[in-house]
Amino acid sequence: MKIGLYQFAPEFGAVERNLERIVGTVRGAEAELWVLPELATTGYLFADRAECAALAETIPGPTTEALAALSRERGTRSVAGLAERLGDRVYNSAAYVGPEGVVAVYRKVHLFDRERLCFDPGPEPFRVHPLGDFRLGMMICFDWMFPEAARSLALQGADLIAHPTNLVLPYCQAAMVTRALENGVACATCNRIGTERRAGVELTFTGRSQVLDPRGRLLGQAAADAEETLVVEVDLAPARDKRITERNDRLGDRRPELYRTSS
Ligand code: ACM
Repeated sequence: MKIGLYQFAPEFGAVERNLERIVGTVRGAEAELWVLPELATTGYLFADRAECAALAETIPGPTTEALAALSRERGTRSVAGLAERLGDRVYNSAAYVGPEGVVAVYRKVHLFDRERLCFDPGPEPFRVHPLGDFRLGMMICFDWMFPEAARSLALQGADLIAHPTNLVLPYCQAAMVTRALENGVACATCNRIGTERRAGVELTFTGRSQVLDPRGRLLGQAAADAEETLVVEVDLAPARDKRITERNDRLGDRRPELYRTSS
């Protein structure tokens, strides 16, 4: 499967301009699935919850409708990080969109730092969704720090994890190799670049968007600080084979009866 990542610096608050850049990029390259950054249309550093809610949109909404139209035009699918308004709730969400419209929404479970001031934590469990003959799971940025997220998706049969990010710490790109390897799933992490200075805070995002195959091999990685469209061919079939050696299986060898899952 050809996976496209669009690593760029969304302009804060310029939802329509950011969407136009995404549409232009998807029109300019061939991929079966596009993964876009976290909060790809709004930018990241909201001053407060009210500003975040004002820039958030519903799902389905204008952005997912534009992405669905693009899917029909290009015969592609996409996973986009979006600020989502749902009643009086605001979520840091990822929308999985195909020609038929919104297929699924994932609402970020593990909020990072100031996100806790702006968003509600996602209330629903991790789930997998059809992707042709394969299955797609979603997680967002800081979810990488909690191995249970990727493991939960793998146990449900995910072959690929689509991972929109706005990474500011330097660890995730290396850590995702372990997430892919220990679960036998491909992982597509689409990060952003650039610096945001708002609300007395400055954050620089770490780029290096990447695609890992189901054995944890790095198939492609973008630069740390340049806008880049990365299109990578990844074979998802090995995700169905969880063997490590003749006598070991990633998921089958687990001993859950010996794991304490709460402290
Ligand atoms: C993050 O979760 N955006 C660091």
